[in-house]
Amino acid sequence: VDTYAELNRANWDDRAGIHAVSKTYDLPAYTDTQHISSIVHFDLPRLGDLTGLDGVHLQCHIGTDTISLARLGARMTGLDLSPTSLAVARRLAADVQPDVTFVESPVYDAREALGDQDFDLVFTGIGALCWLPDVARWAETVASLLRAGGRLFLREYSPVLWAVDEAPHDGEIQLAYPYFETPEPLVWDSPETYTDATTAITHTTTHEWNHGLGEIVTAILDAGLTITGLEEHTSVPSEALPGLMQQGPDGEWRLRERPERLPLSYTLQAVKA
Ligand SMILES: C[S@@+](CC[C@H](N)C(=O)[O-])C[C@H]1O[C@@H](n2cnc3c(N)ncnc32)[C@H](O)[C@@H]1O
Repeated sequence: VDTYAELNRANWDDRAGIHAVSKTYDLPAYTDTQHISSIVHFDLPRLGDLTGLDGVHLQCHIGTDTISLARLGARMTGLDLSPTSLAVARRLAADVQPDVTFVESPVYDAREALGDQDFDLVFTGIGALCWLPDVARWAETVASLLRAGGRLFLREYSPVLWAVDEAPHDGEIQLAYPYFETPEPLVWDSPETYTDATTAITHTTTHEWNHGLGEIVTAILDAGLTITGLEEHTSVPSEALPGLMQQGPDGEWRLRERPERLPLSYTLQAVKA
């Protein structure tokens, strides 16, 4: 396993325990069998009817979106690098949605890890692509998992947002980090995570990468998929730019002033012919 994956796995193992008891992830809410995550809820009109589909959720973390997709009718498998995340996901699923299965693997090894099963739906996003050094390799992996007619569903933070300084001076939006994919990672060192819980992370160093929207689109096209939808949004599920955002009644966060200035996230769909 590469150094970046080892560092990031240790960091996500720490976060999993913190997230499991956070209000942000609100695991007890899933005992209501109608409950779905706000991330999946946001895309309900785009997801459509999932009844009977075989779905895989790449980088599923503690399984809340995976369980939500199962509640929309898909037979879901979640895949993640972090064993502690998967332990939380499996415990939750055993209690509230036992038909969901979870597999431990780095994304790039997903084809081997999932055996010879093909899928109608590959779902991923909201803080997934930034952990991967090579978006072209990711797109090839996605394509290898889809059967003919299968669909990639990606909702992700905008690479424009990832390039913005998250602690801006004078409340101004400023570009501080790479927009394009770089050979070297951005190295972060932070004891904090994005949920309400206050426990500090022990494994604080992470390696992350940005990927420009053109690079993502090109990677998906080069992998042989046809893009059927690309919508940019003025909102995200978390307060990505503290102090500059407000939360709407839908739970999503937008710039308080002139939200039309900045794409914050996007939903991309593609199919395999
Ligand atoms: C922010 S979560 C994304 C999931 C979902 N949006 C959520 O909020 O629950 C990121 C997940 O990516 C996983 N991850 C990071 N690098 C990975 C890799 N190379 N292969 C597989 N999973 C990875 C982490 O373990 C973590 O669970």
